[in-house]
Amino acid sequence: MFDRSIKIAPSILSADFANFGAEIRAIEAQGADWVHVDVMDGHFVPNLTFGPPAVKAFRPHVKTFMDVHLMISPVDAYIEAYAEAGADMITAHIEAGPHIHRTLQAIKAQGVKAGVVLNPATPAESVEHILDLCDMVLIMTVNPGFGGQKFIHSGIEKTRKVRAMIGDRPIHIQIDGGITPETAPLVVEAGADVLVAGSAVFKGGSVDAPEVYGANIRAIREAAEGARKAA
Ligand code: DX5
Ligand code: ZN
Repeated sequence: MFDRSIKIAPSILSADFANFGAEIRAIEAQGADWVHVDVMDGHFVPNLTFGPPAVKAFRPHVKTFMDVHLMISPVDAYIEAYAEAGADMITAHIEAGPHIHRTLQAIKAQGVKAGVVLNPATPAESVEHILDLCDMVLIMTVNPGFGGQKFIHSGIEKTRKVRAMIGDRPIHIQIDGGITPETAPLVVEAGADVLVAGSAVFKGGSVDAPEVYGANIRAIREAAEGARKAA
């Protein structure tokens, strides 16, 4: 069921890498709506994270929705493996290859939801002719590769443009990078509904102090919903 309510998607890039199962269960118990999995290849981005077997191991712990952000190039050859690993949604970067239209078709062919991702330098207009293949547009507000970076403000105007292009089509807008209770209202006011947050969710907490995750998630959600009410 499509809805534009605010969804908080903690990125497990900021979790304890020795304890993913418990970390996923903790963030979900503390109010996470989706679980965001950052896949990096050391080539498209200067960092390495999770292959399909890792994602498959996360799967049984995720009771909500597993959102797999592929920062890999080439990407097409790996779509089937990440779908089989249990992704509910796969997002691929427009900059990762010459044929994003084909990439989105390949994701859809696996029977999972499909999203396109735009780096900070990629214009909003680049998604105009592929929107009908997308369940989500992910607008990066940092350069992909690492958690804990500073929010890039040009993503706000881009969000506004993409939101206008979407109109009443059932397509989510997700924002990823530097989301905090301070930046969340800026992108929600511009039209975003899914907020990824790594450091702002995990900071100060642990599986032994999961209530901190809950307070962090609530602070982002309340700030975001405040921006909706004010609009
Ligand atoms: C960056 C990743 C993000 C990252 C966000 O390449 O796509 O999902 O984990 O981390 P924060 O919220 O700390 O900016
Ligand atoms: Zn991400």
